[in-house]
Amino acid sequence: MKLVGKYPTLRMRRIRKSDWIRRLVAENSLSVNDLILPIFLREGKNKIEPISSMPGINRYSVDKINLIVERACRLKIPLVALFPYTSNKKKDNYGTEALNENNLVCKALKVIKKNFKEIGTMSDVALDPYTIHGHDGILKGNYVDNDKTISILVKQSLLQAQMGCDIIAPSDMMDGRIGEIRKALDKNNFKNTKILSYAVKYASNFYGPFRDAVGSKKKLKGDKKSYQMDFKNSTEALREVALDIKEGADMVMVKPGMPYLDIIKTVKDNFKIPVFSYQVSGEYSLIKNGIKNKLINEDSVIESLISLKRAGSSAIVTYFAMEIAKKLSKNY
Ligand code: PBG
Repeated sequence: MKLVGKYPTLRMRRIRKSDWIRRLVAENSLSVNDLILPIFLREGKNKIEPISSMPGINRYSVDKINLIVERACRLKIPLVALFPYTSNKKKDNYGTEALNENNLVCKALKVIKKNFKEIGTMSDVALDPYTIHGHDGILKGNYVDNDKTISILVKQSLLQAQMGCDIIAPSDMMDGRIGEIRKALDKNNFKNTKILSYAVKYASNFYGPFRDAVGSKKKLKGDKKSYQMDFKNSTEALREVALDIKEGADMVMVKPGMPYLDIIKTVKDNFKIPVFSYQVSGEYSLIKNGIKNKLINEDSVIESLISLKRAGSSAIVTYFAMEIAKKLSKNY
C-alpha cells in the first residue's frame, strides 16, 4: 500500500474526532441480520432452567420455547439453532435417540415451524448429545468410526429435514458426510434444505460450558482430536472447506470464533461462499464473567462480534444474540 501524504498535512485523527464522522467512515457494522440464536432444550414441562456454566442462558422445555422464539421473531433475528440436553437414560453407545422422531430437537422443530413462519431453524448433526461416551460418532475401540457414523448422520439429517428443519448443520467433522447428506436430501425431495457445514471445527478448549449445557461434559471419554482439527493448523482449513463445497455445502462455519479470526479471513479470501462463525460457549462465559466482575465493560460484546464481522463472517452464532438484538433495536 502506498502512503499518500504525511504529518503535519496528514492527520489520521481528523476522521476520528467526532461520533458522526466515525460513523461515516466505519468500515464494518453489526446488525440483527448477522445474529444466530442458539436455544438449549430440555425434557419436562413448564421448565426454564438456568445453566450454571453459562450465566444468563437457560434450557427450555419444548412447551416453553414459544416464549424465546417469539422474542427472537419480534427482534427480527433470522435464525435459531437448537441443542438438546438429553437425559442419561436415553443415551447409549450408538446415539439411538438421535433417530427418535419424538426427540427434543424434532419436537421443537415441529412447534417452531407450526407457530413461526418468519424465522429459520437450524439443527446440529452429530451424535454427542445422545451417546453415553460423549463422542460425535460411533466408537470402534477408542476411535470414532467414520463411515458407520456417516450412515447414522444421514438418517439424522433426513429426520430433521422431515420435521421442517431449514438448515442442516453437521458439526461432527467426519470425512465425506456432506456429500452423503446432500445426496440423501435430494433423493428424498428436500432440495431446498440447506447445509451449513461446520467445515472448520477445531478440537478446542473453549467448548467446556456447552458440553456442560448439553450434559456431555462428564460423559466425554478422552478428547475429540482424532476428528476435530488441530489448532496448530491453518492451511488444512482450506482443504476442509474446498472438500465441503465440492460435496454440496451451501455455507461453511469456522468454530470457535475469536481465537480463529485469521482462519475466518483466510477462508473468506479464498472462497466465494458465505462464511459463518461461532462464538462458542467458552468465549461467551469468559466475556460475561469479565463484565460481571467489572474487568471489562459491556461494549466488549459488540467489539467481539464486530471483530468476527471484520474478519469476514456473514453471520455469527452467539449466545449474546438476544441481548445484542435488543440493544441494536433500541439504538436504531
Ligand atoms: C457438538 C457441538 C459442540 C459445540 C456445538 N456442537 C461441542 C463439541 O464439539 O464438543 C460447541 C459449541 C459451544 O461451545 O458453544 N457436535
